[in-house]
Amino acid sequence: MKQLIYNIGMLATPEGKTAHGGPSQAEIRYYRNAWLAVADDGTVAAIGEGEVPEEYCGAAEKVDAGGHLVTPGLVDAHTHLIFGGWREHELALKLKGVPYLEILAQGGGILSTVRNTRAASEEELADKAAEALAMMLEMGTTTCEAKSGYGLSLEDELKQLRAIKRLQSSQPVELVPTFLGAHAVPEEYKEDREGYIRLMCEEMIPAVAKEGLAEFCDVFCETGVFTAEESRTILECGKKYGLAPKIHSDEINPIGGTELTSEIGAVSAEHLICATDEGIDAMRHGGTVACCLPATSFYLNANFARARDMVSAGVPVAIATDFNPGSCPNLSLSFAMNLGCYKYRLTPEEVLTAVTLNAAAAIRRADTLGSLETGKKADMVIWKADNLDFILYRFGNNLADTVIKAGEIVVKR
Ligand code: NIG
Ligand code: FE
Repeated sequence: MKQLIYNIGMLATPEGKTAHGGPSQAEIRYYRNAWLAVADDGTVAAIGEGEVPEEYCGAAEKVDAGGHLVTPGLVDAHTHLIFGGWREHELALKLKGVPYLEILAQGGGILSTVRNTRAASEEELADKAAEALAMMLEMGTTTCEAKSGYGLSLEDELKQLRAIKRLQSSQPVELVPTFLGAHAVPEEYKEDREGYIRLMCEEMIPAVAKEGLAEFCDVFCETGVFTAEESRTILECGKKYGLAPKIHSDEINPIGGTELTSEIGAVSAEHLICATDEGIDAMRHGGTVACCLPATSFYLNANFARARDMVSAGVPVAIATDFNPGSCPNLSLSFAMNLGCYKYRLTPEEVLTAVTLNAAAAIRRADTLGSLETGKKADMVIWKADNLDFILYRFGNNLADTVIKAGEIVVKR
């Protein structure tokens, strides 16, 4: 036995290998006065309450949880992790009331990060992202989806995805790569958007697939960016090359992206701030995970997605950070969890499922991650808290105490 975590006051986890919507999103299994044994391969061997059985007492490493709360490691299912520079100068513009899409239309926003990302080397991008990952890990994030989308040329998109690949083996956070060439139309294709879509479909997606650099293909379906029809074309092409579809939809304007989800079999739809009833229906029929990003609403001073209605409609809701230099320069999934309670009005149980099992399902990892159960990866957080409510009630502090990835202590604060 590799490891034994003992003296756990409360262990809280969803259960299963599929996303949970409806009433089951709130179903959390609680173990009290508990222990958890980790097998030599880094998976959970057993969990129980009360006395630790004899067979686990000789584990190579013993970790005293101090009577505290243990949850699965947090899964951040939506980040734009790899980028050059920052955009702090946009804060003043935002405060003056310049809209996000206006900044983009003037060649700023995403396009200014594209210039910085193109100017950086693969190594520089990886080093910068490694700093972000170390901070995320400190706050309990053990798995993170990472999108490209600031290269917008064949070489620069590959460079971003190769930076993700490099980070996969050089630090503990498990990364899941997404190709987001359709994040914006690059300046050089401003007058030829069809040409850029052709470039993505004929060169970028095949090259990404050939090098095995991404698992998902994503599109920013938004006014002035990509239409629903264009999104469909790009995502169908991704599917042909084995990239599963994701979509940024209904972030600012409802232009029909979420309504496409059942038809294209989207694994997740993301943002969803102004999702319509038809969009919510499509996600339910398509078995799509609704990945909601409350810290983006907070930073953009926008509305909050109707996550409560989505859960009630039976759509599994995940919550992620959306970490990026423009619309959400925040790495703390805990902060997004707080907003999940305060603004979406989800319960602490629903929020826990949203950042563990449902988030794992949004990146097709629900069979191995997202809950503490025999056979799943032993990714967990020991919190400076005695119960689940406490970590949602407190905000603005990092309450993670010890972070464990596959049975290895990777953070001890
Ligand atoms: O998810 N919406 C598009 N993409 C990001 C923002 C990227 C940026 O502003 O750099 C988002 O909010
Ligand atoms: Fe995003």
